Amino acid sequence: MAVIRSVFRGVGAHLPKRVMTNADLTKIVDTSDEWIVERTGIRERHIADDDELTSDLGTAAAHQALVRAGIDPVDIDLVVCATATPDRTFPATAVRIQQSLGVTKGAAFDVQAVCSGFVYALTIADNFLKTGQFKRAVVVGAETFSRILDWEDRTTCVLFGDGAGAVVLEAQPQHGTREDRGILATRIRSDGRFEDLLYVDGGPGSTKTVGHLRMNGREVFRHAVQKITGIIEETLVMTGYAPDEIDLYVPHQANQRILDGVLKKLGVPAEKIVVTLDKHGNTSAASIPLALNHAFEQHRVKEGSLVLMEAMGGGFTWGAVLARW
Ligand code: ACO
Repeated sequence: MAVIRSVFRGVGAHLPKRVMTNADLTKIVDTSDEWIVERTGIRERHIADDDELTSDLGTAAAHQALVRAGIDPVDIDLVVCATATPDRTFPATAVRIQQSLGVTKGAAFDVQAVCSGFVYALTIADNFLKTGQFKRAVVVGAETFSRILDWEDRTTCVLFGDGAGAVVLEAQPQHGTREDRGILATRIRSDGRFEDLLYVDGGPGSTKTVGHLRMNGREVFRHAVQKITGIIEETLVMTGYAPDEIDLYVPHQANQRILDGVLKKLGVPAEKIVVTLDKHGNTSAASIPLALNHAFEQHRVKEGSLVLMEAMGGGFTWGAVLARW
């Protein structure tokens, strides 16, 4: 039976020029390269300049994805931006990206699900495309987390970085089988009982400030391995694929030990997973499309590749998307 699927047409990414290494961080807080590498796998991250906004990073990533897709911005009718660090409280960063790209039709809006934002944004765009409401979507994950870090808190400031990634999706008729190209299954979850484990202690509606990221790392770690493994298994069940049938895992890049824990539980070999956190740190909603772009440039993602993306973040929110490139 013919169905409409959201097919990936292009991917792009953009990182701020400025690189901050673990050695640079030792001049700001009491930490060491050894501690950060051993506990997280992170070696360096990119930090945006003051005049480099989330929408600037997102626009550059989206532009590259559109060029690679060979699609003119005038043919885009949906722009979704996953971000927890918008340029302004409003308008939505997605509308600024839409405007910078020269897209004038359709709709643009932000999605706020922190580190799971890109998985949420893909899920939402997929539902619009499948129902025929829009034809071509740019889905962006863009963050300037450096702006909400407490640079005196060594337990959090060493973990995060700035950046953006984007994909172009197009609604295309497919056969309705699991061999189809495009998004095959999506699953998103949230549970507000865990808010106190990972949050920002400010906001326009409460403190009238932006606030700083606060986290109970040990507890987040414990939940992450369990929740991520669970959502991957649920997503695979929806299509009947086994963990070893997936060509490539493109996870949210939070911590090497979380990735190792999930791999071990699923019994998946390390060569099937894309790792960029050593170079980027945790870039929240940008981390999956940044990793996807890296894999594309390394020719690890090509037409027909079965790709599993997953994330967990503040809220908690978590989710997974299974797609054939
Ligand atoms: N440098 C040196 N020492 C540090 C640092 C640092 N940057 N940060 C903490 N320490 C110290 C602590 O003060 C503590 O010292 P103490 O024993 O004298 O009290 C010691 O190191 C151990 O601290 P823990 O918090 O127990 O360290 P842990 O092994 O749990 O590692 C970490 C901390 C890396 C944050 C880990 O818990 C983790 O990765 N959690 C997951 C959190 C995460 O990735 N969040 C991202 C957002 S959510 C997501 O994306 C999934």
